[in-house]
Amino acid sequence: MTQVSRGQCPWCLCLLGLLVQLLLSLCLFSYVQVPHGQPGPPDPGCSPGPASTPATRGPRPLLILLWTWPFHHPVALSPCSKMLPGTADCQLTVNRSVYPQADVVIVHHREVSSNPRSQLPPQPRPPGQRWVWFSMESPSHCRSLSALDGYFNFTMSYRRDSDIFTPYGWLEPWLEPPVRTQANLSAKTDLVAWVVSNWDSKSARVLYYQKLRGHLHVDVYGQGHMPLPKKDMMETLARYKFYLAFENSLHPDYITEKLWKNALEAWAVPVVLGPSRKNYEHFLPPDAFIHVDDFKSPGDLARYLQELDKDSLGYQSYFRWRETLRPRLGSMALAFCKVCRKLQWNQRYQTVPSVASWFQ
Ligand SMILES: *[C@@H]1O[C@H](CO)[C@@H](O)[C@H](O)[C@H]1NC(C)=O
Ligand SMILES: *[C@@H]1O[C@H](CO)[C@@H](O)[C@H](O)[C@H]1NC(C)=O
Ligand SMILES: *[C@@H]1O[C@H](CO)[C@@H](O)[C@H](O)[C@H]1NC(C)=O
Repeated sequence: MTQVSRGQCPWCLCLLGLLVQLLLSLCLFSYVQVPHGQPGPPDPGCSPGPASTPATRGPRPLLILLWTWPFHHPVALSPCSKMLPGTADCQLTVNRSVYPQADVVIVHHREVSSNPRSQLPPQPRPPGQRWVWFSMESPSHCRSLSALDGYFNFTMSYRRDSDIFTPYGWLEPWLEPPVRTQANLSAKTDLVAWVVSNWDSKSARVLYYQKLRGHLHVDVYGQGHMPLPKKDMMETLARYKFYLAFENSLHPDYITEKLWKNALEAWAVPVVLGPSRKNYEHFLPPDAFIHVDDFKSPGDLARYLQELDKDSLGYQSYFRWRETLRPRLGSMALAFCKVCRKLQWNQRYQTVPSVASWFQ
């Protein structure tokens, strides 16, 4: 036996071969990870840190330039180490004079979409600087997308397949026992509400509403309808059993604050019109919402809501998920911190060849 194993052991050869292969592939793998070939930042080595910090400058936080405030509305910021525990703080500024030093530039789509060539940051871009394309609007409301091909390194949006995923909201497990898991029925004095700011008479949501209103009374708020001051909004919506969380356009993952804030934060059961039920179920349990596609017609939906109005057990079943989960809302400040976290760790060369063909 010893003779065989020492002389011509096929197993040993095989093992040796495997070992050599493993070593080789490890070398190759670590090679691939190192930024190479591109005019980019000096390799920062093993320590996680700002991608383009020249060794001479010493460690400093990642410098992020926000090209414009989204919709020109400044928002309050919080340190990223607080918003995303475990993340080192970044320096975020809207002062364009730091452009030559910025490690990252976040470009919010809307403010560069009327004339991208003159509204985008100037060329040539500083070596190693990464650009993040950011939009929370759906493709139906993003102009000039194709003019943005070949500029960006990362995408950030509500789409799950974005490089940096920033949903309007999400559900999180409770860490302590929930405060309340049932709707307060004595506070629910009204049936169905809808807040609509942008009345497009050809949109799927207005067409659906026009048919629904023949069967069911809906309190409509917003421009051209009942006024609803922002400060009264949540209190008002909390009086309703149902909220029409109808999206302005239908796109995968495009599920906005209409659901997360107007409906769920107000403890109104969302009646949704947007992407498919299957798509919603990536974000919410199946029994957390009512989908218009669950019904053959708006009339059938109306009858179902009227039945639930009289069936308090059936109605309360739409809140069962709150025993284990609670809704959370996204924010611009959180999105910026996600950039901070992602780009501290991601130092690879990366480009988005075409935002348009990915997003549309
Ligand atoms: C922008 O930064 C430059 C250089 O650091 C500074 O001189 C300027 O005052 C800043 N502008 C504003 C509006 O803060
Ligand atoms: C339920 O709503 C009623 C009417 O608004 C209110 O008086 C009562 O305090 C609420 N109960 C709870 C437990 O919040
Ligand atoms: C970022 O994207 C641009 C445009 O595609 C590209 O030229 C640049 O090399 C990329 N930079 C990095 C660090 O990936």
